[in-house]
Amino acid sequence: DLSIIDLDVPFALMFGFSSSLNAYSNLGVLAVVTWQVLFVSLPMIVLAIRLQRYYLASAKELMRINGTTKSALANHLGESISGAITIRAFEEEGRFFAKNLELVDKNAGPYFFNFAATEWLIQRLEIMSATVLSSSAFVMALLPAGTFSPGFVGMALSYGLSLNNSFVSSIQKQCDLANKIISVERVNQYMDIPSEAAEVIEENRPAPDWPQVGSVELNDLKIRYREDTPLVLHGITCKFQGRDKIGIVGRTGSGKTTLIGALFRLVEPAEGKIIIDSVDISTIGLHDLRSRLGIIPQDPTLFQGTVRYNLDPLGQFSDQQIWEVRRLIYLQFRTVSTLSDWDE
Ligand SMILES: Nc1ncnc2c1ncn2[C@@H]1O[C@H](COP(=O)(O)OP(=O)(O)OP(=O)(O)O)[C@@H](O)[C@H]1O
Ligand SMILES: [Mg+2]
Repeated sequence: DLSIIDLDVPFALMFGFSSSLNAYSNLGVLAVVTWQVLFVSLPMIVLAIRLQRYYLASAKELMRINGTTKSALANHLGESISGAITIRAFEEEGRFFAKNLELVDKNAGPYFFNFAATEWLIQRLEIMSATVLSSSAFVMALLPAGTFSPGFVGMALSYGLSLNNSFVSSIQKQCDLANKIISVERVNQYMDIPSEAAEVIEENRPAPDWPQVGSVELNDLKIRYREDTPLVLHGITCKFQGRDKIGIVGRTGSGKTTLIGALFRLVEPAEGKIIIDSVDISTIGLHDLRSRLGIIPQDPTLFQGTVRYNLDPLGQFSDQQIWEVRRLIYLQFRTVSTLSDWDE
């Protein structure tokens, strides 16, 4: 949607505007030279606009379906890539491949129908214009000689021909714009998503060295992911002493990750409190909270950049300090032997 807004909508807008300008100035010239064309042109415009509305009602829905099914396809693809090892282990490649093709079909279907609908519209517009033009020519030929000068007739016909083209393309470009503008509508939905809590709450900042001990107290902690979903954590009360090493064990889906996430307030508790070193974490800013806790996730992430950047992304430590840590954990770099090689 963002790429459509950035790349396609400006062009569609420009083409829509210029082709409409072209069609209406064509009509203007024609009306000035032989005003009688207005008798046929105006009903034709009204009819075309009605056709356009009829077409847009379906075409817009088709574009919407195309957009929503694209997310399902992208999701499935992303999940398949990240779960490739598991899929192969269970020899389920076939099922995922078939599902992928099915989603591609579901996504491409509405796009194709949208394309067909556009052809439907163009065909009707062209038939209509051709009928009007040929019957006007026929009437002009039937009129007694001398009603119009031959020059006017020639001009009316040649402008009428190009009016046809420019009119059809104007309607087509307008419809194209109307279809693409759906993306703005879809992106706009994200504007209303409620934000996370404040980064920093000035009047309630923790001490600079918080958390000093690292005792974590859970007080009747209840968590659910969304308003209307069941509780995932059902009122946990316990206390972890500082400096202890605690293992949390439970079957899959029992809420271990949720509990860790709650410490970082990735989900806000529905009820209950988490107190770390006598600070209720719901009362402080998110930045204060998250920058003081550390997490080592299951899946390692290597950021783009140098080895040094990966070890110290915020640039808070000197080379000496990092070198010392490296020595303490016996981390050996085969290719890096001196400090000056680090940034390469
Ligand atoms: N983002 C989410 N939105 C809605 N429900 C979720 C979300 N994440 C987890 N859940 C649900 O919360 C429950 C606990 O999930 P959680 O990931 O915390 O379990 P877990 O103990 O970490 O499992 P595992 O051992 O598989 O890692 C599950 O029922 C899960 O479906
Ligand atoms: Mg987990």
